[in-house]
This record gives sequence, structure tokens and C-alpha cells, in this order.
Amino acid sequence: MEHIKLFSPATVANVSCGFDVLGFCLDSIGDEMVIKKTKEKGLKITKIVGFDLPFEIEKNVAGVSALALLEDAKPDCGFEIEIYKRIKPGSGIGSSSASAVGSVFGINELLGRPYNKLELTYFAMKGEALASQCEHADNIAPALFGGFTLVKSVAPLKVLQLPTPKNLFAVIIHPQIEIKTSEARAILPDAIPLKNAITQWSNVGSFVHALHTSDYDLLSQSLQDVVVEPYRSQLIPHYQNVKEAALKQGALGCGISGSGPSIFSLCHGEKVAQNVASAIKNIYSQTNIAFEIYVSRINTKGVNIL
Ligand code: HSE
Repeated sequence: MEHIKLFSPATVANVSCGFDVLGFCLDSIGDEMVIKKTKEKGLKITKIVGFDLPFEIEKNVAGVSALALLEDAKPDCGFEIEIYKRIKPGSGIGSSSASAVGSVFGINELLGRPYNKLELTYFAMKGEALASQCEHADNIAPALFGGFTLVKSVAPLKVLQLPTPKNLFAVIIHPQIEIKTSEARAILPDAIPLKNAITQWSNVGSFVHALHTSDYDLLSQSLQDVVVEPYRSQLIPHYQNVKEAALKQGALGCGISGSGPSIFSLCHGEKVAQNVASAIKNIYSQTNIAFEIYVSRINTKGVNIL
């Protein structure tokens, strides 16, 4: 294979209760990339469509991730990357992870798959760190593995793939404002009260159990965030109104997607998801903030060849 075209999906990190560890993969929202093998060694980004991002390898998330892989693999060829960016940077649905995952996945395919997905997670984290100044994998893991994932630890890196209940749908509203992950991390406290820690780890445990047993009621009860949401929700206009409307329409839960400003809801069935989407749309239509709304299945495949 001399070139590859791929779809690198958007993802939702944290999933309310699992800050920095839980994530899930979205369907139909994502970037595309074309990666070509070249005789000449080295790495070039030859095209970026969609958003104004740097072409310099060391300043581009896809470039830094790919470089981490190439420094390890030392292949006898080079690569050119074209990025068709559809996920707005700073959207909270894993824009930088999609770039990082796409480049390492594509190059790995062109090299004949010398690395497994866990090793690719490690390389992609190098790119993610450029964007958020912190190595975490809660967007990268679901983009690579698909479905729901739990990052058990980053050093050593351990990723658990969790089951996806069949009738689960996500609704995403993306208000067109930018929140930098680094800034959304900077406002969080260093320590949390024990009472909140107990609530949070009980929710993570029950959320994982709910996924394994397709228990939608338990899933709903677990989608609660007493650690991060109280701080970050203040950065997102109309957050509480959106959440109230989503829950009123029957969403299982509603929370901040990654570091925001996107807000996700999880719903049992497409009909509920469509109702939730309409109610949220109604709220944002009355503001002067532009927005996008998506209703998506959970993508159990992750990044894939087109
Ligand atoms: N877990 C990360 C955060 C995801 O919330 O800061 C955003 O990259």
C-alpha cells in the first residue's frame, strides 16, 4: 500500500464521572486524512483544509505524533500528510486527538502494522500533549479502539475497552466558542474534598457496571460529576439550561464533553436523542451564539480506512 485515506473520529472524554479516564467514540463526526509513502525520508504536511493550523511538523499535533512513531520505527521511506479538518480545534470533542490518532494509525497501516493500538496510543499522546500541555489519553483511546474506553493508567499505559449498550445515542451541541484545554485545566483545584471523591469513584464504578450489563437506569444515575463540572460549567454559556432541557426530554445524563465548550447527552434510543437535540437547539437558537448539533451513534470501530 502506497497511500491511505482514513476517517479519524471525534470523541467525548470524561463522560461526567471519569475525568481523564473515560471516553467514547462518535460516529460520522471526524476528520479525514490522506497519507502517502514517499521514497525520500522525512515527514511533510502538504495540505490542511478546514482550519488554520501550522504546517511545521513540531507545531502540529498530527506531525508531533507521527514523528514520535517514525523516530521509533526508523523506516526507509518518508510520508506526506494531507489533513481535511472537520472538527474545530478547541471544541471539546477531541479535535487534537483526531489529528494525532489519524497520523499514527495511517502511517502504521502503510508500514504494515508494526505497532498495536496501545503502542499507537502512546505515540498519539505525544501530539495530544502539544495541544493540552499534559499527556492524557481519554480522547485518544476511544478514537483508536472505538466504543467506550477507560484509561487505567498512563504510565505504564493501560487501556480497557468497555462494552457499548446497543441502543445508546449521543447528542452533542457545539457552541462556536473556543475553550483551550490548558485553560480549562488551569481553573481546576489541586485537591478535592473526600466526600466528593467518594461520590465520583462510586459513579465511575457503577457506570462501568452499567455498560457491562446494559443497565440504562444505573447508567443514568452514574452520569454525575461533582469534581470538574462545578468549575468548568461556568465557562459554557447556558450550560444549566441545556442540561435541564436534556434531562426533561429523557436524556440519561448530560455533561461537559472533554474540556468544553461542547455539551454531550447520552440517550436510550434515537427518538429520545432527537427530542433532546430539538430541545437544546431551541435554547441556543434564542441566543446570538452560533452552534452545531449532532445526533450520533456510538462508533464501536474507531479510526478506520475509507
Ligand atoms: N480529560 C481532558 C480534560 C480532556 O478534561 O481536560 C480534554 O482534552
